[in-house]
Amino acid sequence: MAVIAHNCPNLQVTVVDLNQEKISRWNDPDLSKIPVFEPGLEKVVKETRFKNLHFSTNFEEAIKKADIIFISVNTPTKEKGVGAGHASDLRFVESSARLVSKFSQGHTIVVEKSTVPIRTAATIMSILDSNKDPKDSKTFDVLSNPEFLAEGTAINDLQFPDRVLIGGNNSLAIDALEKIYLNWVKKEKIIRTNLWSSELSKLSANAFLAQRVSSINAIAELCEVTGADINEVAYAIGEDRRIGSKFLQAGPGFGGSCFTKDILNLVYLCEYFGLNEASNYWKEVIKINNYQKNRISKVVADKLFGTLTQKKIAILGFSFKSNTNDTRQSASIKICKNLLEEGAYLAIHDPKVSKLQIAIDLECEEISNHSNCDYINKWQFFEKIEDAVYSADAIIILCDWDCYKNLDWKEISNMMRAPSWLLDTRNVVSKKLLKDTNLNVWKLGLG
Ligand code: UGA
Repeated sequence: MAVIAHNCPNLQVTVVDLNQEKISRWNDPDLSKIPVFEPGLEKVVKETRFKNLHFSTNFEEAIKKADIIFISVNTPTKEKGVGAGHASDLRFVESSARLVSKFSQGHTIVVEKSTVPIRTAATIMSILDSNKDPKDSKTFDVLSNPEFLAEGTAINDLQFPDRVLIGGNNSLAIDALEKIYLNWVKKEKIIRTNLWSSELSKLSANAFLAQRVSSINAIAELCEVTGADINEVAYAIGEDRRIGSKFLQAGPGFGGSCFTKDILNLVYLCEYFGLNEASNYWKEVIKINNYQKNRISKVVADKLFGTLTQKKIAILGFSFKSNTNDTRQSASIKICKNLLEEGAYLAIHDPKVSKLQIAIDLECEEISNHSNCDYINKWQFFEKIEDAVYSADAIIILCDWDCYKNLDWKEISNMMRAPSWLLDTRNVVSKKLLKDTNLNVWKLGLG
């Protein structure tokens, strides 16, 4: 929404959330307090906030005034009931539609921005219509306009999108939304489809991206046992223009709030329609991803003579990828839990993730009173890399933050307990930097 406000100074954009604390942080005069860390976001917010970008909890007023409403709420995987563990929980989409239905005035275009299962637009439309008073002249159009930005590069992705997808049944409503994007996106990049194609394209795009990561990770394991080098293989196959070079970076497994959730959703949809072979196909993508995390934990144990008890392991990187403080579904969580389970003591560093967030992810929410957590005293958070690696038996790089790329490995290896190991799961450390060190090195995907 900040990027829309930035590109369309003639539009008034209001972001509404019921969470007062979150909205207060978005309104905080100190821009470093805004709740999301995303390169470039502070600048965009600074240039638009209180001019044509507003943050509020007053949804009644915002809905009444709006011509176009974007529903951008969470659609987590259902935890209970029919489809638990696979289907999307649409309760926030539904409650948003109810609010719009109640407070909107005149004609309102409602845009699905959240990632939703196919045919959610029909649910939204029936909720919107259900509250109609025959006396008033409320009317609605529902459009699907999925978001393809990736965290860490969000501002650039929004400013220069590969495409903008708008699905709908009414071409006038599509025109109205297209007009907004035309302020900065070329017309050729705007794809118009029917509602269901748009909804399904978003799920499919994420499933394809995740499948590429699982594919390259499966090849990485084969490289390790055959003597091939995953970087060379990735380069060689990526040069084929039909395959392309992006999303071929082997790693500890994909994380983030979307890939697993969206594939589970796809699996559920396939099963719902009785497409069991298709459902099994997509399940394998997640299976390989889970296997990758467990495999890495096992490699660590194997390298350290099969036992991790009383050994210090430094974890470099906790977010699910670099340039974000988001840890949702991060491979680091599962790998750290596996290592703690094996008895290791972990020294964790991440340039953006907070100690509290790590505690929550390792199930130590009550960090202050030390209750409710098996792992308390078994891990520590360090703000400085040198403190985390001091006297460690092994260092595992789990995230490709720039600050891990040019470390002085000679100095670090001297600080560690010998025989010391570096396990690089993101291939961020060059061979050159490891020359003249005493480190034993394992790199993911290298024979
Ligand atoms: C992903 C999609 O890339 C976006 O297009 C989509 O809009 C977004 O989900 C969403 O649905 O909200 P995101 O999860 O932010 O974006 O991050 P990605 O860059 O896709 O990375 C996902 C995971 O895959 C990360 O853990 C990353 O480290 C891993 N990955 C990615 C690899 O291991 N190798 C690669 O080559 C690429």
